[in-house]
Amino acid sequence: MMKPNYGYHVPHLILTGLAAGLLLSCGGVMLLAHPGQSALAMALGVMCVIAGAGSLLVSVWLRWLVETGRPMATRRMLDRIQWRGDEEVLDIGCGPGLALIGAAKRLTSGHATGIDKWMILHGEKRNAPEITLENARIEGVEDRVKVIDGDAASLPFQDKSFDVVISGFVFHHLPPEIRVKALQEALRVTRIGGRILIIDDSSGKLARSMKELGVMNVQVRRILFMVGLLEVRRTA
Ligand SMILES: C[S@@+](CC[C@H](N)C(=O)[O-])C[C@H]1O[C@@H](n2cnc3c(N)ncnc32)[C@H](O)[C@@H]1O
Repeated sequence: MMKPNYGYHVPHLILTGLAAGLLLSCGGVMLLAHPGQSALAMALGVMCVIAGAGSLLVSVWLRWLVETGRPMATRRMLDRIQWRGDEEVLDIGCGPGLALIGAAKRLTSGHATGIDKWMILHGEKRNAPEITLENARIEGVEDRVKVIDGDAASLPFQDKSFDVVISGFVFHHLPPEIRVKALQEALRVTRIGGRILIIDDSSGKLARSMKELGVMNVQVRRILFMVGLLEVRRTA
């Protein structure tokens, strides 16, 4: 049986972290093991070992985040909604469709639309709408999923088109001024009473920006180590 491929395994980041960690740790141990070292060399050795261990830990955490944490956080985000099944859903920066297809599985008569610029990040080989649609087909929800090219900062949808707007691990890729524009756009396309849910490691900053935009119904909850979920209900 074919399995969907939701990508974003960040191979470059993990391999760079592992290589830097191993080099620094080995260099540090060699400095410390050398007899008759000066105090400065010993201090340098200790710093290299600490930096190397830190780099190795970050790589292990990143690996856990992309393989286990990301699907877990996405599930937790989708579980925050009491689905009726007829919602119109927008996933901003849907990539291969982890959240988009997760939402589509909770729909009956509703639709899930994904929008993306299809950028290649962190050494992934491909990011393309065909991959997302193939994942939707494998998961049996292709009749409820639509994917389009577009930019988070200028969404090609009419005002108040969606009941639920979601986004996972996208906003930290956006420069600050584009990030605010993307939040404004998410608000614009959400219906009154609708929800916006964004997973990101910058969720605190996003919440502050939302409040500066005059939106008061804003909550942030931690859903993973260093990753938050921003929740907004559009009331006006
Ligand atoms: C780390 S991936 C996350 C993909 C998906 N949301 C997930 O959780 O698996 C970030 C995605 O954001 C998209 N992206 C980055 N900047 C964007 C922008 N300005 N507008 C639309 N999509 C963007 C990238 O092309 C990429 O697919």
